[in-house]
Amino acid sequence: MYPTIEEALEELKIAKKRNPGPWVEHSKNVGIAARNIARMIPSMNEEKAYVVGLLHDIGRRVGIVNIPKHVYEGYQYCLTKGWDEAARVCMTHSYTFMADEFQYEPDTLEEQYIKNALISYNQADDYDKLIQMCDALATDYGFVILEKRFVDVTRRYGIMEDYIKGWEVIFQIKEDFEKIMGCSVYDVLPDIGRTTLLSPKPWIPPKNEKRN
Ligand SMILES: [Fe+2]
Repeated sequence: MYPTIEEALEELKIAKKRNPGPWVEHSKNVGIAARNIARMIPSMNEEKAYVVGLLHDIGRRVGIVNIPKHVYEGYQYCLTKGWDEAARVCMTHSYTFMADEFQYEPDTLEEQYIKNALISYNQADDYDKLIQMCDALATDYGFVILEKRFVDVTRRYGIMEDYIKGWEVIFQIKEDFEKIMGCSVYDVLPDIGRTTLLSPKPWIPPKNEKRN
């Protein structure tokens, strides 16, 4: 289950009032990228791709929070609405290695919950993979090549070795989708030729936001 496109856009509007920030435009662009790519893949539903893309970061509606917290909040929020398919993507989009990211026993209840949910999902499905990739293709100011987005995020949060390993996963996802699409993912991202060349100052979150 997932909401209509109109409902998802309305959720973003409400969330923006609670916690304004570039994450809202980023979410809209993730939705557009996911829709345009899914449209080229016969086994995928473009409306579902659009909606789960729009809502992947909806956990940020609660305020400026770290990665596990926004994942957990988004998951719970979507579940209370009955949108289990959107909830799943709220959970999986930040964990390219799924449960394998947790080689340790998490010390917060939220992370324990996330670990258990990821174990139950086992492997990433096509929608998980699509949004993991689109998260890296979409900024608030438009679409960019993966390399650019990775630098963007690194400028914001610093270098983390595990994150760099995640880049390889994303490049693989891109290749796999492109084989089915018969073209580059960049071919279906509007205006990417212009926006990927822009270099706005990275958004610096207020002090209390941490990546982990
Ligand atoms: Fe995102």
